[in-house]
Amino acid sequence: MPERSREEENFTEDILSAIEGEVRAARKRVRTFVSGLDDVLEGGVPKGHVVLIVGSAGTMKSSLAYSILHRNALEEGARGLYLSLEQSRQSLEDHMYGLGLNLQKASDRVEIWDLGLLRSKLISGETWLNLLKKDIADHKARNGLDLLALDSLPALDIIAKYKDPREELFYFFEWLRELGVTSFLISEMVEGVAKYSKNDEDFLADGIIHLKMQLVDDVHVQRRIRAVKMRSTRHSLDFYTLLFERGRFSITKVIGKVQE
Ligand SMILES: Nc1ncnc2c1ncn2[C@@H]1O[C@H](COP(=O)(O)OP(=O)(O)OP(=O)(O)O)[C@@H](O)[C@H]1O
Ligand SMILES: [Mg+2]
Repeated sequence: MPERSREEENFTEDILSAIEGEVRAARKRVRTFVSGLDDVLEGGVPKGHVVLIVGSAGTMKSSLAYSILHRNALEEGARGLYLSLEQSRQSLEDHMYGLGLNLQKASDRVEIWDLGLLRSKLISGETWLNLLKKDIADHKARNGLDLLALDSLPALDIIAKYKDPREELFYFFEWLRELGVTSFLISEMVEGVAKYSKNDEDFLADGIIHLKMQLVDDVHVQRRIRAVKMRSTRHSLDFYTLLFERGRFSITKVIGKVQE
């Protein structure tokens, strides 16, 4: 076979990279409605992805996940289910009202299940995770389901009492993908430790969004956000400042000196 010239090789590479770009761009995406972040993510999170939202205490993980479900319900008519295993439904709703989200407007499209409600739904005899999956699948069949938030993976760890966490979580992530929903799984992380999850969920997940608090001088702390990974997406790895004003999240480029 005749050898290909450098120009021919470059031409083929250009074509392949253009096709790859087109395929990526054509992927249906779920907007986060965090102003600026969707541009970083080539339009949003690819539909059907399982995405971790990780961060330390108070970094607004729950607020971000809920706001994604809420805004998608209002703007896209998306159906959402928020599994709140750490806080009661009342406490979560109070917090969201406090942030200025009008929950009533999306009440027919976003449901919150807390532990109290789940306990009454789940019957004994089956493993907790299997029953939860069955309830979610039933809910999807009855009401439709586009977006799922699980708050949080460490709480699920405690409640589900896995025999083999890695194996069971592997099959749970696969199940979520097969269910055809886009999932946001909240997890905790210790600042300064480059590990985004306890049971290697970071390798299983399609995407990771990291939230953190950053000391900017002796007195001031800012929230920061970055996409650590997002499969099928060419994105920046940078941290951005995360702002929350008048019921909406936005990001800005980090300016100024940072004290580590
Ligand atoms: N009205 C408000 N406007 C802006 N920020 C607020 C408002 N009310 C509360 N907050 C901030 O939201 C934070 C809590 O947000 P959220 O519960 O989403 O965080 P989290 O990361 O889920 O916390 P946790 O680690 O406890 O689960 C509070 O610590 C506070 O700093
Ligand atoms: Mg929370």
